[in-house]
Amino acid sequence: MKIVTHSPEETVRAAQKLGSMLRPGDMIAYKGGLGAGKTTFTRGLAIGLGLGDNVSSPTFALVNEYRGSEITLYHFDMYRISTEEGLESTGFYDYDFENNVAAVEWSENIAQFLPENTIYITIDPLSENEREIIIEDGGRFAAAWD
Ligand SMILES: Nc1ncnc2c1ncn2[C@@H]1O[C@H](COP(=O)(O)OP(=O)(O)OP(=O)(O)O)[C@@H](O)[C@H]1O
Ligand SMILES: [Mg+2]
Repeated sequence: MKIVTHSPEETVRAAQKLGSMLRPGDMIAYKGGLGAGKTTFTRGLAIGLGLGDNVSSPTFALVNEYRGSEITLYHFDMYRISTEEGLESTGFYDYDFENNVAAVEWSENIAQFLPENTIYITIDPLSENEREIIIEDGGRFAAAWD
């Protein structure tokens, strides 16, 4: 599924819709370069999951956690990660992915470690304020975007 947004707010709204449909065990993996809108999209996911909008880049922390009573969103930034040891150092293997939701920026860097059911989101800047967003969800959410 492909959408085009024309402002950060529109990207947040689209992501919010997706966030509200996510289930425990879902893994979101972003593809897209610096400033594409991955963190902006994740803010929408958090809102849709009922976790508020206080989402910031985990660039230095490597991971931010947004905790709710039912579900937690793990927000990873793999910009500096390229090896399996590096990935381990983020604590990646210690998180309870089965019962929560994860969103991974710079997923290209850990492509071979992502689960088979990963939902890939590619964000491509078309202009200063336009983004093409491709969501590879195996058709799961197609009806929602009709
Ligand atoms: N349609 C749009 N959707 C999302 N962001 C947009 C859009 N138009 C402009 N922007 C701007 O693009 C920037 C996206 O920044 P954001 O931090 O979300 O990107 P990122 O992909 O997480 O970058 P990084 O790789 O550095 O972490 C913001 O400054 C945002 O305001
Ligand atoms: Mg970011």
